[in-house]
Amino acid sequence: MTGDHISSSVSVEFDTIVKAFGPVQVLHGVSFALAPGRVYGLLGENGAGKSTLMKILAGYEQPSSGTLHINGAAQSFGSSRDAEAQGIVLIHQEFNLAEDLSVAQNIFLGHEKKRGLLLDDAAMDREAAAALAQVGLKIDPRTKVRRLIVAEKQLVEIAKAVARRARLLIMDEPTATLTPGETERLFKLIAQLRADGVTIVYISHKLDEVERVTDDVIVMRDGRFVTRSLTADVTRQQMANLMVGRELADLYPPRDAVVRDVAPAMKVHGFSVPGWAQDVGFEVRPGEILGFAGLVGAGRTELFEGLMGLRPASGQVEMLGRTVPNGKGWRNPRDAAKHGFSYLSEDRKGKGLHVHFGLRQNLTLMALERYATPWLQPAAERAALAEAVKDYGIRTGDLDARASSLSGGNQQKLALAKVLQPQPKVVVLDEPTRGVDVGAKRDIYFLIQRLAREGLAVIVVSSELMELIGLCHRVAVMRAGRLVTTLDAEHLTEEELIAHATGTAHEHTSA
Ligand SMILES: Nc1ncnc2c1ncn2[C@@H]1O[C@H](COP(=O)(O)OP(=O)(O)OP(=O)(O)O)[C@@H](O)[C@H]1O
Ligand SMILES: [Mg+2]
Repeated sequence: MTGDHISSSVSVEFDTIVKAFGPVQVLHGVSFALAPGRVYGLLGENGAGKSTLMKILAGYEQPSSGTLHINGAAQSFGSSRDAEAQGIVLIHQEFNLAEDLSVAQNIFLGHEKKRGLLLDDAAMDREAAAALAQVGLKIDPRTKVRRLIVAEKQLVEIAKAVARRARLLIMDEPTATLTPGETERLFKLIAQLRADGVTIVYISHKLDEVERVTDDVIVMRDGRFVTRSLTADVTRQQMANLMVGRELADLYPPRDAVVRDVAPAMKVHGFSVPGWAQDVGFEVRPGEILGFAGLVGAGRTELFEGLMGLRPASGQVEMLGRTVPNGKGWRNPRDAAKHGFSYLSEDRKGKGLHVHFGLRQNLTLMALERYATPWLQPAAERAALAEAVKDYGIRTGDLDARASSLSGGNQQKLALAKVLQPQPKVVVLDEPTRGVDVGAKRDIYFLIQRLAREGLAVIVVSSELMELIGLCHRVAVMRAGRLVTTLDAEHLTEEELIAHATGTAHEHTSA
């Protein structure tokens, strides 16, 4: 799409790159170089400046000072189009798709193909289909992006970059929303691109992936370059320690015993969400951490969206010993929150946060009753925000900032703080550590344990099996819309969980 004048390889040198947003300086003179045809893992804690540096490389942001050299020549990109003209393409961490346009229109946005004066839709659909095939996404290119699930949106982002024939491709947390199968396919694509001489920068908090796909790792901390190494020369534990700048202790908290002779906080019976979940039943007790495992499409998210009143549903729900009226779950998230049930969406940007609102407005949205007497009390809201920033370790230079200015992992922490604001009795956390760095992950696990100790019933939906095994008391497994078994997490293995999720195990129920 971008023509054949692009040189076949791209080398990069960052020379003392500084970036400030208003008074907040986030990059403090970063210098390092990238050689062509290698795969670089870029590591660092949430807020370390990885995305910001890569946005500078891809023309989305301009440095406050310092110089970017591409193939030996100083460059200042005024826009992403300038960078694309040099073959540099960024796949965004927070998707950058136009929801109301089709997949093909998104792939060609700003690079539309024309025949004479008219758009050549047929050619664009055809090329879009080819790019989708390369990333293994089987959808009609004319589908509106709004209709896609997050994993599909991620694959469209990757297809968009592939269609632009990048020579330097930056992938910012590309697998956060992908299934293991989709991830494998992406790794094959990376290997193929690398063999073609494409330079790749791979940002991920999944250190096992970094270990597998990268040649070199580069570590940033607090807006500074810290070190680089051949990937083969460092262990995962060393990578983690370099990121946080200290020795990290055990990732998971010790498992507490659950009090068995108290009434369940929530009982769900015969619950169905048409098209997604059939006849699901489970209970969760105060103090218990209950995991939900399953493949993408098993219906976990849709089940909880049904309970929240976000989808049509039927069945019986009992909350704190009382039947939820009309047996259909709650009417909407606000109604659910009022009755002690709260849900952290896996779709942080779509359903979790209003990224263009302030941190404060986001935090208190679900619990406005607490801050309105009857008028909103900005001072109380502000105090709540200051407390949440401290409790959840949200890194922000500015309490009056918009949610969109937070780094990806810090948005996740804000979303978590938001769903806990209404002080629920049962909370569902759907992919609570997506995009979160190892240190912060550990903080979130210990936080979940603290909440459980305080009597909250916590449901964790996760595609990271080790997270479910390490953190939960019991793990419910869903497959094709049914809850097939509930297993004791204590002696559970990953293999066993996979066998149940894919339907290759004998099923029994432990609890
Ligand atoms: N537009 C902006 N306005 C103000 N501050 C910003 C803006 N963009 C980023 N920041 C700040 O810059 C710092 C670095 O953010 P960045 O997104 O680069 O981190 P990151 O290393 O990509 O983290 P993560 O692993 O969470 O994605 C953060 O403290 C963030 O709040
Ligand atoms: Mg980032």
